[in-house]
Amino acid sequence: MDKPKVVLGVSGGIAAYKACELLRRLTESGHDVRVVPTASALHFVGAATWSALSGNPVATEVWDDVHEVPHVRIGQGADLVVVAPATADTLARAAHGLADDLLTNTLLTARCPVVFAPAMHTEMWEHPATQENVATLRRRGAVVVEPAVGRLTGVDTGKGRLPDPAEIFEVCRRVLARGAAEPDLAGRHVVVSAGGTREPLDPVRFLGNRSSGKQGYALARTAAARGARVTLIAANTALPDPAGVDVVPAGTAVQLREAVLKAAADADAVVMAAAVADFRPAAYATGKIKKKDDQEPEPIVLVRNPDILAEISADRARPGQVIVGFAAETDDVLAHGRAKLVRKGCDLLVVNEVGEHRTFGAEENEAVVLAADGGETPVPHGPKEALAEIVWDLVAARLH
Ligand SMILES: Cc1cc2nc3c(=O)[nH]c(=O)nc-3n(C[C@H](O)[C@H](O)[C@H](O)COP(=O)(O)O)c2cc1C
Repeated sequence: MDKPKVVLGVSGGIAAYKACELLRRLTESGHDVRVVPTASALHFVGAATWSALSGNPVATEVWDDVHEVPHVRIGQGADLVVVAPATADTLARAAHGLADDLLTNTLLTARCPVVFAPAMHTEMWEHPATQENVATLRRRGAVVVEPAVGRLTGVDTGKGRLPDPAEIFEVCRRVLARGAAEPDLAGRHVVVSAGGTREPLDPVRFLGNRSSGKQGYALARTAAARGARVTLIAANTALPDPAGVDVVPAGTAVQLREAVLKAAADADAVVMAAAVADFRPAAYATGKIKKKDDQEPEPIVLVRNPDILAEISADRARPGQVIVGFAAETDDVLAHGRAKLVRKGCDLLVVNEVGEHRTFGAEENEAVVLAADGGETPVPHGPKEALAEIVWDLVAARLH
């Protein structure tokens, strides 16, 4: 089989050097990559680097190798075009359909999925001109990954940083896997909770659970690749921030509730994949609880935590908002799942069997998705990402 053909457009931002790592990841995972830098990009990283790393010729203008009509052929033959970094200028030219260099010609002739990973100073990103250009590109079906927040060129910090190349690669991989499918969550805001809450006993101890957050992160990544604006509420995870996803940390169940309610206010869908503690210690010791040689330890008294899934299902922030819960059960999984779906009042409940060495922390999962309308979708053992895609298929069907 031919290798998938990827066009890597690089425009003239300081983050152009990071595109070298993206290029390596694409070539090493079996893609045939043609790099199309803008003339400005070559001020940052030279053509020799792009050519040597990709094993393909590199041109910026339409006047090189004219007999091969590259201004048309490169776009026509591509399975994916990814522009990383995408400058404010290149976004503007793409949004307005300009065709003044090889990259913009390629963008006009490509009929495959297109991903833009913008990077620029916060002021440039927030400018209404840039925001309107981004909205135009999204409306036309492109996936525009939100920039990350962090250190920018010079001493500045803010939103506008190019996401980690490894995470941009993950977006490309997922968009490629979806082939010609439209980014069906474009224009939607989705909220995903991930990880496990920790309920403190004293400044050094907590009651927690084994959730790694991998399933929630897979949900966030797949939603971003399907064009959604994603807020990921992460409880005690140790995973890299997915590209284009707004990550909000939360420690305890009470903090997670606050973060979910805030983010859900304008969300089209909320997926509660986090393992939220049902109970928390009734008392919090402000100093470390000491061991006393002559005394047995005090029993730990627990109180109930808020039931976030039931609360947001009963009191939807928006009409038509789709709510998805996860039920981790250790026995009689389906019967507990069905009862829980009714009790919680959500639209979909992903029921999976968990145990000490099962599901938590693993790369794979197996589940049945129960729907309030009676539907039942078994998901065979496979990557957490595959389960995530099925969840979004079911959510998208309910949003349309
Ligand atoms: C040092 C330096 C860093 C720059 N970084 C960025 C950037 O990160 N994002 C951006 O949109 N423009 C940046 N620019 C401005 C662009 O290079 C300029 O708008 C250029 O016209 C972009 O051309 P292109 O879109 O064809 O690559 C930078 C310019 C310089 C001199």
